[in-house]
Amino acid sequence: GKDKELIRGSWESLGKNKVPHGVIMFSRLFELDPALLSLFHYSTNCGSTQDCLSSPEFLDHVTKVMLVIDAAVSHLDDLHSLEDFLLNLGRKHQAVGVNTQSFAVVGESLLYMLQCSLGQAYTAPLRQAWLNMYSIVVAAMSRGWAK
Ligand code: HEM
Repeated sequence: GKDKELIRGSWESLGKNKVPHGVIMFSRLFELDPALLSLFHYSTNCGSTQDCLSSPEFLDHVTKVMLVIDAAVSHLDDLHSLEDFLLNLGRKHQAVGVNTQSFAVVGESLLYMLQCSLGQAYTAPLRQAWLNMYSIVVAAMSRGWAK
């Protein structure tokens, strides 16, 4: 439907430059919630937030996040096929001390990146389409938090 077209159309250009767009997203995330920085065990090796974000380990994580988004965009027609992967990914994030509430801030940072990168193409329906996909991904990851 329309949602999928909006997501695929916007990801076509962004997905070609994953790292810079992921860096915009994570700069925003650490600005909104600086405490998240300390959940990365390698954050002690860097000084400022900007230093951290340009370190290889952080760029690696940014790349991993963008690849998960890329996988979700590629599987818009069968997102459920990613369920086991996302549940396990959630488990790993629980293990490093992430709270499921932080995913709301991550979502806000994703939208911020989209807005910065898409300019005029960032419309209310596009925003909603991305939110819908993101909430499916977050719901699947959240199942990884043991009750
Ligand atoms: C791994 C933190 C959000 C995807 C990790 C690791 C940490 C971490 C500490 C382990 C070290 C590493 O691999 O660099 C966080 C924090 C987040 C966050 C604090 C925000 C609250 C996300 C999101 C995604 C994601 C939204 C994707 C949708 C991954 C992947 C790995 C990973 C794919 C590698 C897992 C593996 O080793 O199999 N994350 N993460 N992360 N993260 Fe995140």
